[in-house]
Amino acid sequence: MADTKNFYITTPIYYVNDVPHIGHAYTTIGADVMARYKRMTGHEVHFLTGTDEHGQKIYESAAAKGMTAQELTDVMAENFKKLLPVLNISNTDFIRTTEKRHEKVVQSIFSKLVEQGDIYKDTYKGLYCVPCETYVPESSVGQGSTCPDCGRPLVEMEEESYFFRTSKYADQLLDYYESNLKAIMPKSRYNEIISFIKSGLRDQSVSRTSISWGIPVPGDERHVIYVWFDALINYLTACGYESDQSQMDKYWPQVHHLMAKDIIRFHCVIWPTMLMALGLNPPVRVFSHGWWTMEGEKMSKSKGNVVDPFEMVNLYGADAFRYFLLRQVPFGTDGDFSESAMVQRINSDLANDLGNLLSRTVSMIIKYREGVVPTPPSLASIDLELSEVARTSCELYLEKMDDFAFDEALKAAWTVISRANKYIDETMPWKLGNEGEKDRLDAVLWGLVEALKLASMMISPFMPDTGHAVWSQIGFCGDPANLKWEHYKWGEPTAGIMKVHRTKEVLFPRIDIELWAEEKKARDLSKGKVVDPGEHEPQIGIEDFSKIELRVGQIVKVEEVPRAKRLYKLEVDLGYERRTIVSSIKADFTQEELLGHKIVVVVNLKPVKMCGVQSDGMLLAASMSGHEGLSLLAPVEDIPLGSRVH
Ligand code: ME8
Ligand code: MG
Repeated sequence: MADTKNFYITTPIYYVNDVPHIGHAYTTIGADVMARYKRMTGHEVHFLTGTDEHGQKIYESAAAKGMTAQELTDVMAENFKKLLPVLNISNTDFIRTTEKRHEKVVQSIFSKLVEQGDIYKDTYKGLYCVPCETYVPESSVGQGSTCPDCGRPLVEMEEESYFFRTSKYADQLLDYYESNLKAIMPKSRYNEIISFIKSGLRDQSVSRTSISWGIPVPGDERHVIYVWFDALINYLTACGYESDQSQMDKYWPQVHHLMAKDIIRFHCVIWPTMLMALGLNPPVRVFSHGWWTMEGEKMSKSKGNVVDPFEMVNLYGADAFRYFLLRQVPFGTDGDFSESAMVQRINSDLANDLGNLLSRTVSMIIKYREGVVPTPPSLASIDLELSEVARTSCELYLEKMDDFAFDEALKAAWTVISRANKYIDETMPWKLGNEGEKDRLDAVLWGLVEALKLASMMISPFMPDTGHAVWSQIGFCGDPANLKWEHYKWGEPTAGIMKVHRTKEVLFPRIDIELWAEEKKARDLSKGKVVDPGEHEPQIGIEDFSKIELRVGQIVKVEEVPRAKRLYKLEVDLGYERRTIVSSIKADFTQEELLGHKIVVVVNLKPVKMCGVQSDGMLLAASMSGHEGLSLLAPVEDIPLGSRVH
């Protein structure tokens, strides 16, 4: 990467036909962390996000709702806009593809490429995936003519179309990637794109006659411009292309595109060839981060397992949510979201490691030094060891941040935090206080403040509010986000005048896991989710199942079992015989509720003794694990006693 002090970072512009979910939040947070970090390395940052609003999909969902496409996009774009302050995103622009400034640039680029012969008219025939807005090449059509990406049925399309000469730029593109090994990260994605290019590029259809919701082709209004051609150009529109040359000069091609693997071909093949045709440099980097699943499954509306970022922030706060997403899995690796993993991390990393370090340090300075951070005295080897850990961790942190290795950078920050906690345990400042070793105590308290200062700078891009809270509690003014790493030094003397202060609010209160689990269940229930399907049993064959003899019976007598709080002794009539069955359903039913009821009984279960009474069988009931309330299984029709259940 050229060492220029301007940095341009983008998220994909999101389709507005969906509501924002954790995947969108993830890319946006990743971009925000990078933007904030780059500001701390002295860069001027342009940070763009926005919404992709044209295309058949949006047109159809608007029609289904009885709205115009523009009305629908106006409403839906708001959802994405609203999420930004909630996630504490520091973007400098937000673009909507229906804005005039964008449509103008798209049309102008289209005309320019037509004029220079890089766009030509022909006919296009093929299988098209409407939800993905893309033709699917024959070689990758899925079973039963479905889309290889989303699995939905493809439709046959034939239309007159304009084509962009992607193929003309294939060699130039390959050259570019071969001399810029970090232009696509991680490496696995780089390799994937290289082999895709080598397999041969076909010209890209860039217009549609079959849809109307899009930017018209200039001078040929039966065509609208293909949504991807339109969408990719947003990165130029919002960089001042044809409107603010100084901004273009400043930020192009220092552009870093973040996204998931689903759309890297568009960004690594079509987009750079479009730029080449325009005589512009391709982006310096496309970074493809991992894909989130939800507790092992693909997130989808129909499964009702889409993680709502608004809800997560509401429950845990933006900082904890941001921290978790970037700490839990390496940025280039797929991850599985689980709320309980997040709660565990909040407790261990944030409440325990970071929270304790801060509160212990602040309390000791208040207790022993009336809140004033002591001036650095002479240092012992253990103090130097702490500063050495800080130095190496800081180096590692900067290196990892530059490579988008957010999880590693956070680990480096936690190396400092953990070392400082251990330093407290080793130096035992409370003993130093008592023995009157003033200098030692000063050195330790000062060292802890230095460690927290460094930690707050390191975490600031990830957890802006927390970074600031730590910073001000240890007595600094301003915000660590405003510092520059090049000016950072361990032990820069501000001590002696700084006063720590404790806030009433704990940084990250410990979450009581049991209580949390109860509340989560209630939340899930209220959303109509299936709560905890429980452990699934291994598959069995029909021969296993048929070993269980189930029959219809009727409860003819209900008695209590002496001393047993939960048990009833039931007499069940199976038609051909009567059985005694002991069942732990006393908490759920009164004797009257059971008497006369028809039920389903496992009749060939080996007898067992419960509280001194032998039970010859078992009745079937349904329950939601972890929830109160049982429901007896009973035949719906009136059927003779003893009937087999199959
Ligand atoms: O593709 N895990 O928009 P889109 C991780 N409009 N990231 C995810 C994710 C998940 N489960 N789900 C979505 C489009 N994302 C086009 C882009 S750009 C010129 C046009 C994120 O709304 C990830 O960044 O389908 C992915 O690439 C993007 O959302 C797709 O967003
Ligand atoms: Mg998508």
